[in-house]
Amino acid sequence: MTDLLLDTTEQVLTITFNRVDKKNSFTADMYAALADAFTQAQRDDAVRVVVIQGHETVFSAGNDIADFLKAPPVSPDVPVFRFMRAISSFTKPIVAAVCGPAVGIGSTMLFHCDLIYAGDNAAFSMPFVNLGVCPEAASSLLAPQRMGYVRAAEALLLGDPFSAEAALEMGLINRIVPPTEVNALARRQALRLAAKPQQPLLIAKRLMKQAQASLVATHMAEEADIFGRLLTEPAAREAFGAFLEKRKPNFENL
Ligand code: COA
Repeated sequence: MTDLLLDTTEQVLTITFNRVDKKNSFTADMYAALADAFTQAQRDDAVRVVVIQGHETVFSAGNDIADFLKAPPVSPDVPVFRFMRAISSFTKPIVAAVCGPAVGIGSTMLFHCDLIYAGDNAAFSMPFVNLGVCPEAASSLLAPQRMGYVRAAEALLLGDPFSAEAALEMGLINRIVPPTEVNALARRQALRLAAKPQQPLLIAKRLMKQAQASLVATHMAEEADIFGRLLTEPAAREAFGAFLEKRKPNFENL
């Protein structure tokens, strides 16, 4: 699959989103490949760290809206939910390199990464309500925890985007560098992690995450169930239709 590039060198698996003409929005096939890549990397001793990255101009515009409407995620086994479970339960370190827009799951997947480096052009947004759906990937749990409730409400209820500086100030990302330097920085940090003694490294990650691992899993499952149902409601149909017709949605009476 050319929309997703996988490369393992020096014990680091680098996953590059490579669908720039569609702003790296994710199709079901891409989610399936992502889920498989994480599942395989989990088992593969040759992979110690995973890096996820997009393009210097865009990380990801989230779900491919047309593809989503063609095959709505109505069961827990669909690729998008398989991917969310795979990344959220991944026990090895994940480093993200984010430039440009990171919309929807482009932002929420970052709650499951360990180190996050961003270009000064990064713009995060979680406009689920504007799209007639609800937060996913346990973001309704993790965003208030990490950002504080009122800032999460701005992001998740109003759907307001926020900048790299705001994300840094909230502790959502580690560092901001010029977009041309982000991927190289992520790789350097990944190589540092790969050179650590692995058992203590994995134990440290597990200890940081285990207190709420099962809460994350149940929260994500509940979100997925509601998300699937909301997708068939009039608000989502209007929002997605408006995007495809390149017009503003009309939520009057909804
Ligand atoms: N699904 C499907 N196609 C998408 C897409 C998405 N989520 N995001 C962008 N695209 C497509 C556009 O339709 C356009 O295709 P076209 O050239 O065939 O018309 C192309 O990618 C370029 O997008 P465009 O909107 O012109 O780029 P931009 O630089 O002006 O804006 C974004 C970039 C990411 C801000 C904007 O595309 C956007 O808001 N996308 C939708 C994000 C979204 O709501 N995602 C769903 C989250 S659940």
